Parts: sequence; C-alpha cells; structure tokens
Amino acid sequence: MSDKNIIPHDHKIKKEDRARLKKHKPVVLWFTGLSGSGKSTLAGALEQKLFEEEMHTYILDGDNIRTGLNKGLTFSDEDRKENIRRISEVAKLFADAGLIVLTAFISPFKEDRALAKSLIGEVEFMEVFVDCPLEVCEKRDVKGLYQKARDGKIKKFTGIDSPFEAPENADIVIHTDQQTLEASVEQLYKAVINRIK
Ligand code: ADX
Repeated sequence: MSDKNIIPHDHKIKKEDRARLKKHKPVVLWFTGLSGSGKSTLAGALEQKLFEEEMHTYILDGDNIRTGLNKGLTFSDEDRKENIRRISEVAKLFADAGLIVLTAFISPFKEDRALAKSLIGEVEFMEVFVDCPLEVCEKRDVKGLYQKARDGKIKKFTGIDSPFEAPENADIVIHTDQQTLEASVEQLYKAVINRIK
C-alpha cells in the first residue's frame, strides 16, 4: 500500500487542549546510560514525586517494553535502532496525549538519540545522561548480566563488547556514583518544573 493513500484526520481536540486539562505542559525525559547506571531507579523516583504533586506521568522502560511492544528485538545495532525508533514514536504520542514521559533505555547510539530528538521535537525533548562509570555499573551488577557478558554467555553487551556513545550536550547529567538519589531527583524535578509550567 502506498503512503500517499493515507490521509491523516485533523481531530478537533488538540494537544494544547489536553495539556490545559492536565494543568501542565508535556515533556519527554530521555534517560540514557549504561545498564545498571540507575536510569529506571531515577525515573521511578522522579515519577513518584511528580505523581504526588498530581502531575500526569508515564514510564517507558527498556526491560518492560522489550517483553511487549518490542518483544523479539535483539541487541544487534539494527534492532537497537528499531527499539529506539519505536519508543520515540510512542513517547511522541504520549507527549501528544499531554503526559510527562520518562523513557529509560540504554539508547547507546548518538544517531538514534538524535532521531528521538528530531521526532519528538526540541521543545519537548530533554536528554538526561545517567553518567556512571562502567566499573561501578559492573560492580553493582544488579541483574548479574555483566558477569554473564564477561563469561561470554551474553554477546554484544553494552560497555563490554558493544559501544556506548556518551552524550556530549545532554540537558542534564546525573552522576549516580557521586550524588544521592534524593539529590538527583531534586535536580531533575527542578528542571522538569521549569519546562512544564
Ligand atoms: S537498548 O540498547 O536497545 O537501548 P534497552 O534499554 O532496550 O537497550 O535494554 C537494555 C536492558 O536489556 C539491560 O538493562 C539489560 O537488562 C538487558 N540486556 C540483555 N542483553 C543485553 C545486551 N546485550 N546489552 C545490553 N543490555 C542487555
């Protein structure tokens, strides 16, 4: 089927209308960092704080999305690209719905994060680099996956035999090995409030 036969419908209720009802603007917080760096923990703690203040949030999390929407995608470069493309589109829809979206994916490639930014749009995209040294993530090894990667039982593991391209111009950088969770949440909360009011 050709794309030219698809004509989007212009619905009456607009993004701005939905945002007005929610009493805040939408935003996408794009957490990026190594496995075990603290993306999900930070996103979860921040969501709790926002939720308590009656804001409308949703978390898209790597390990969860990969059991549903992105089930079957591997960790090859191409599949990671497709993983991030789909998440970007979903995050864009959720932002359109008026939500504060928190995405927690390694998203190791600059090019893929740039695509996310261009799809979602600069105004609503906030890149959060969860910067934690590989040695620390590996020591934490919350899921025991680094050990498996070192033993050769998992191939193409980010930081071991697959690259992580660190962001150079992230909107926010969080050093989870140097600051408390509370301090990080406070830092993120202030930045979010600035954007959505
Ligand atoms: S991404 O690279 O495509 O953005 P994503 O965030 O969805 O990754 O998934 C990462 C999670 O999958 C990790 O936290 C880890 O639990 C698990 N995982 C399993 N295999 C790998 C691998 N080869 N590389 C990285 N993470 C892996």
